[in-house]
Amino acid sequence: MRDQTGLAFLAGLLLLGSGTCVKSHPAHAKPVNYPFVVGFERFHGGMDDEAYLAEGGFILLNELNCVACHAPPPEIAPQLPGVVATDLGGVASRLAPLELEIFIRNPRFAKRDTTMPSLFAGPDRDLEEVAALRAWLGTLTTTIPDHPVGDIERGRALYHRIGCVACHAPETGYRPPGVPDNAEIEIAGLASVPMNLADLYDLDALTEFLLRPNEHRPSGRMPDFGLSVPDAADLAAYLKAGPDLTLPDNLTEALSAGAPPADDALIAKGRGLFLTKQCHACHTMPGSTDQPRPPLPAKPLGALDPAATGGCFSERPAGGAVPFYGLDLVQKRALAAALRRLEERAAPDPAREIDWRMKQLNCYACHERAGIGGPETSREVYFGFSGAPAIAMGRDGHLPPALDDAGKRLGRGELERILFGTEGPVKSRPHLVVPMPVFRREAAAPFPDLFRAADQTGPP
Ligand code: HEC
Ligand code: HEC
Ligand code: HEC
Ligand code: HEC
Repeated sequence: MRDQTGLAFLAGLLLLGSGTCVKSHPAHAKPVNYPFVVGFERFHGGMDDEAYLAEGGFILLNELNCVACHAPPPEIAPQLPGVVATDLGGVASRLAPLELEIFIRNPRFAKRDTTMPSLFAGPDRDLEEVAALRAWLGTLTTTIPDHPVGDIERGRALYHRIGCVACHAPETGYRPPGVPDNAEIEIAGLASVPMNLADLYDLDALTEFLLRPNEHRPSGRMPDFGLSVPDAADLAAYLKAGPDLTLPDNLTEALSAGAPPADDALIAKGRGLFLTKQCHACHTMPGSTDQPRPPLPAKPLGALDPAATGGCFSERPAGGAVPFYGLDLVQKRALAAALRRLEERAAPDPAREIDWRMKQLNCYACHERAGIGGPETSREVYFGFSGAPAIAMGRDGHLPPALDDAGKRLGRGELERILFGTEGPVKSRPHLVVPMPVFRREAAAPFPDLFRAADQTGPP
């Protein structure tokens, strides 16, 4: 089969690109070597207390979609719906054939800290199956409009002003306009949501993604800022402006050399493998509205052994039907703690559920509630504001409001308008540049009831 050393070298190359030489650009921020889940990383990653660690473990069970294959007990299933992964319709218009192949073989080579596990990294992998999947996914193109060519400098300024840096990394060394010369720009301390794929996506496809993140990523974790086409094009131009990671020609040839021609039989085989190789557990079938469903029987969540060191906890890819996540030690401890305390979730209370959901969706990147979360101090400079009144208001003049008592201050209609973005992203505070971005409806749906229940008696 194909040349293995090429792939190892390629992995090294991509990681070198994203890790060492160019770390100042946000799309190349240094990756961690395990699946990155922001709510776990910020709030639970460093904790030792078993009960608190278990809370973090619940976040992982959902965000890493363990529950897609290991069914949760019915009484806690509503709290663990899992996440629907990237819509693969049109994937071949975003990723080049070689990048697609790498993503199928081992997504960690394309994005080291990705939450997609490897399904072909085990010793028994069949590279012909990889080729078939690549051939089929390679047919999934879509027509992308020719967007205007964006302005990198405008994109850079926007990126550091409209709220992207609440979740993603700032560019090291960048000074947002308006920051007094004598003010020091601190390095962000909290971990940032990785965005290396921005570098791999086709430019127009990246603009499309930024215009419609909730359609492209049904997980609903990347909210919609209601960007105009020119703004999205400028942001895309900036995000792609990091140092080039294009592969050397000879390597590209070496990897593609063994690829069999993508004939109808191979494409049909790839389509079949999408179902049998468990891709369908997390991704919807492109072109259908079916929800993902697990094709293979795996033990239910309640039957998993928390002390297991094999299966999905194993150090090395186990092969067969077992996905490889590359979990780190703290994540494994948290997952095991959550597995031991599953029954405690049977009786959730609204305050706890709000906290948990605000961690999942990273609302805490912008909002504080009950003394938890809020933007970290070193990121406050990336929340744009306008006008002298904003300065007079102090911190309130440029940061999103705290959400204490949100369910008391705001009626249901108001909450729904804000959270569901029925009239677009809400911007009712003229001094703020950052809007309340729109999260996918399914992801935001529980909040109005939860805020009302937790904060009690509000306006009807
Ligand atoms: C794509 C489907 C799939 C996903 C997603 C998945 N697993 Fe698994 N897992 C399996 C299969 C298949 C096995 C092996 C058969 C079995 O034990 O059910 C397995 C085995 C295991 C085992 C060993 C079982 C035992 O009791 O010895 C553990 C523990 C485990 N998985 C935990 C997890 C965790 C935690 C996650 C999320 C981080 C996860 N799994 C995600 C399919 C999956
Ligand atoms: C509330 C946090 C949050 C904010 C604010 C946010 N993002 Fe994201 N973004 C995410 C998450 C989480 C993902 C990964 C989503 C997934 O895979 O389901 C993501 C993914 C992306 C990606 C895809 C790259 C990859 O490797 O997966 C790009 C590009 C991106 N965001 C750009 C932006 C830009 C530009 C802004 C500002 C307009 C922004 N984001 C604001 C959370 C956020
Ligand atoms: C346990 C859930 C899970 C399974 C199983 C899974 N994926 Fe994924 N996949 C994801 C997630 C999550 C992402 C987004 C990763 C990111 O941006 O870091 C993703 C992203 C992708 C992408 C990149 C798409 C884009 O446009 O950014 C491709 C290609 C892909 N998956 C193909 C597959 C194939 C083929 C299979 C089956 C062999 C598969 N996936 C199985 C969760 C999964
Ligand atoms: C990128 C930053 C950002 C993120 C992430 C974010 N918000 Fe907001 N949110 C805002 C801003 C800014 C406002 C104020 C908008 C205005 O009034 O101009 C706001 C307003 C609100 C309000 C109304 C508060 C009031 O007193 O008017 C609620 C409720 C709210 N957000 C809930 C959420 C929830 C729940 C999440 C997570 C699903 C979330 N937000 C994520 C920035 C954010």
